[in-house]
Amino acid sequence: MNSKSLPGAVPALFPSAAERARLEDWLSLELAAARRRVQAGPVAPTIDMQQFRAELERFDFAEPRPLEDALRWAIERLEQGIVQMSNPRYFGLFNPGANFPAQCADRLAASFNPQLASSASSPVPVALESHVIRAVAQRAAFGDDATGHFATGGSEANYTALICALTAAHPHFSADGVRAFAGPVKFYTSRDCHIAWLKIAHQAGVGRSALRLVDTDGRGRMDPAALLRAITADRAAGAVPVMIIATAGTTGAGMIDPLHACADIAKQQALWLHIDAAWGGAALASNRLRGLLAGIERADSITIDAHKWFATTMGCAIFISRRADLLSEAFHASTSFMPSSISGVDPYLNSVQWSRRFLGLRLFLALAAAGWEGLGAHVERGVEVIERVKERLIASGWRIANDSPLAVLDAIPPAALGEVRALVRRVVASGRAWVAPTTFEGQDVVRICATNGETGMADVEALVAALNERP
Ligand SMILES: Cc1ncc(COP(=O)(O)O)c(C=O)c1O
Repeated sequence: MNSKSLPGAVPALFPSAAERARLEDWLSLELAAARRRVQAGPVAPTIDMQQFRAELERFDFAEPRPLEDALRWAIERLEQGIVQMSNPRYFGLFNPGANFPAQCADRLAASFNPQLASSASSPVPVALESHVIRAVAQRAAFGDDATGHFATGGSEANYTALICALTAAHPHFSADGVRAFAGPVKFYTSRDCHIAWLKIAHQAGVGRSALRLVDTDGRGRMDPAALLRAITADRAAGAVPVMIIATAGTTGAGMIDPLHACADIAKQQALWLHIDAAWGGAALASNRLRGLLAGIERADSITIDAHKWFATTMGCAIFISRRADLLSEAFHASTSFMPSSISGVDPYLNSVQWSRRFLGLRLFLALAAAGWEGLGAHVERGVEVIERVKERLIASGWRIANDSPLAVLDAIPPAALGEVRALVRRVVASGRAWVAPTTFEGQDVVRICATNGETGMADVEALVAALNERP
């Protein structure tokens, strides 16, 4: 064998140490400058997409281009081509302006690129993630039996909950799927739930008709009497109820379902209780707000999205459960090529994913840098931002439809401002702020949510001015 015959590494992919250091320094400066422009600029995209698509066509990848040029081009287009979550006048869906420790975590993960499928490949990251999961579970008053893992988002964590509930509901589900059940499977959540549950039902093979959307109480919270009626009627018709999902912080209005009442019904009916706290779960960080989630400790499983109110980078969710045995049963697989196969420890044996990114470092570094106190202050700050918006809107003739204790407002404009959807279109098109239209208890509302940890009073005033501008 002639060892000299080996070609060198492709320099465009693996540059020299000096070139890499130069580009990294340059990139850090460019990103800082772009961030300053984004925070002061329009919130909505400004790009001409027709022109962009034409530009994109010219990337036929026949001739390599300098990485620096491609990076500059990508930064410029991202500046023009997305809704800017890091702009403090983004009052939108639950997408955060990412916190800095989490951004640093992504840099570390990208550099080391650990494979978190197995504890033998990544003993430190696997132990670190399970430490963070236990810390979050403790804030939810789960005991030492809490287990769980990081997921790509609330949808994956919620899907995991349904798989656990089905596995718990019948000893043969694991082998036979829904054929194990004596009748059609049903599971229950409020009609104000995050509607990804329909996709989850489809994915899990129980079918979309398995999802029962229970009525709300007129204030956006699941009505426990209606829940019990639905379960009773389904049982009488030969169906097999398996799970109740209570939402702690509904997507549209930040309402918290009655957690204790749902837990009582789940216990009485011997059903799995999942609490979808994808957004509202962040209240656990605040000593002042965590009481709002009383009852969460009675859940069989919980979803919390760290990439929502904990403001990590996308996508980073947490699934917590007391039933390590069920996770192992649902996701076990046996193979000889994996470096380790330890049930209850190796993430690939306990979760949906196999290869996995080091997501937990994002929340670990945020917690390490800010502590629960700092993370709690960030959450409380969001509630205060919304309080300020609320006072100003009420003073200028708006009505508030929801009474969420969390950081989201559903507001109804005075008649002179015209109908909700046209108003929202105007505000978004102006680039001055970003809000969303939605429906709350049958009424069109402007949904205003604090998601950016740096929103200040000037941003609140700018939002209110944009909302109050007449057509
Ligand atoms: C209550 C709730 N559950 C689930 C989800 C879905 O989470 P993800 O977008 O991270 O998949 C959301 C997203 O907004 C949500 O608000």
